[in-house]
Amino acid sequence: MALLIRNGEIVTGSSRFVADIWCEGETITTIGKDLEAPDGAEVVDATGKYVFPGFIDPHTHIHLPFMGAFAKDTYATGTRAAVAGGTTTIFDMCCPSRGEEPADAFRTWKEKAAGEACCDYAFHMGVTKFDAGTEAQLRAIVNAGVGSFKVFLAYKGAFGIDDGELFQTLRLARELGVITAAHCENETLVSELQKQLLAEGKTGPEWHHESRPPRVEAGGVHHFLSFAGAAGAPVYIVHLSCLEALEEAVRARLRGVDVRVETLIQYLVLDKSFATLPDFEGAKYVMSPPLRDKANQDVLWNALRQGLIDTVGTDHAPFDFATQKPMGRDDFTKIPNGIPSLEDRISLLYTHGVRTGRLDLQTFVNVASTNAARIFGLFPRKGTIQPGSDADLVIFDPDYRGRISAATQLSAVDYSVFEGWEIQGRPAVVTVRGEIAARDGKFTGTPGRGRLLNTRRA
Ligand code: URP
Ligand code: ZN
Ligand code: ZN
Repeated sequence: MALLIRNGEIVTGSSRFVADIWCEGETITTIGKDLEAPDGAEVVDATGKYVFPGFIDPHTHIHLPFMGAFAKDTYATGTRAAVAGGTTTIFDMCCPSRGEEPADAFRTWKEKAAGEACCDYAFHMGVTKFDAGTEAQLRAIVNAGVGSFKVFLAYKGAFGIDDGELFQTLRLARELGVITAAHCENETLVSELQKQLLAEGKTGPEWHHESRPPRVEAGGVHHFLSFAGAAGAPVYIVHLSCLEALEEAVRARLRGVDVRVETLIQYLVLDKSFATLPDFEGAKYVMSPPLRDKANQDVLWNALRQGLIDTVGTDHAPFDFATQKPMGRDDFTKIPNGIPSLEDRISLLYTHGVRTGRLDLQTFVNVASTNAARIFGLFPRKGTIQPGSDADLVIFDPDYRGRISAATQLSAVDYSVFEGWEIQGRPAVVTVRGEIAARDGKFTGTPGRGRLLNTRRA
């Protein structure tokens, strides 16, 4: 494979200039003006377009057995959708059930992805128990190239761990040089509030938020960061949704806790009023932590701009509206949690962030790509455009205008919460390690070419 991308405006997390990019095989080899394309090389004219580093989604669930259902995407469908939307690397959550051994889960997740994934991928290794056999298995998994753990302070009885297990995980993570990501909610408060609401006959999706209000999340963040501080372990808060939780993270940073923060595209553009839609439509908008009061959106955008939040992910967890969300028709606590958005993250972030002036282009690249690469051990192989980096590139058309529709999306789920929303700008050409893998929202790459990445720091 030889590929010349001509005359695009290259935007990385720290620079912006017009030049050509020459890629040989899977790698960027030269960046310069007026580069010549040898015979047989593929040439893409990027005049009038931006060229961004391939985007990285730090938080997806492709294979996800959860709440009595399996999320709808496979690695084939989910990563095709990712690539069409400009995401060339995903960090998927390997989530063992509490009864499952980590080594078995790691094997299962790897087998599901191998030969199926259409973009590169890495796993955050879920630690959902810590018993006598856990430590040796986690050490082996880290030795095999995994650089991050994931813990849940919520989902009692499913993925949630207790405080002793949390501390042991963090101590081991510190010793191994691994960063620990956490879902932060106080699970006892969640289950007590759920019981109370159901007893009052409050069973619809609109009550999901009341069972997990901002203080429940903030309490979880405070708790987790107290443990991280005590263990001296670097940590990452996933899907932070509101001011109260952010304040806890900032306070911990000021105390010296090594914490990085992720928010999601859903929290930036949706709010809790969507969960009140009639005819059970609100169930499409049920995820945890819940969509918040609209006032939080400005807080999150400001925090991204000011570097208080590091990344924007999706937490893509696709459960069908026809068959799976209705499991909770009479009881909101049984609605499978998740709002799919892997395919639309970049166009939505550009439309609602860059086009509105909330984010400059550099910040856009940093929060959607570069920072995740840095935090999770992939930089500069991923997350930037420079000689030696993987040729993962997004040639982005800022003049495109279109609308999101489930009818044309590549993800295997049967709805989009962004149905009919206008998009201003989208990826025109996406390359994955030098191969043109998408054009104009359609996957054109080699299925199954995605590779498992080593994210362990040397
Ligand atoms: O609602 C959500 N977030 N579903 C996926 C599982 C998780 O908590 O990340
Ligand atoms: Zn979560
Ligand atoms: Zn998640």
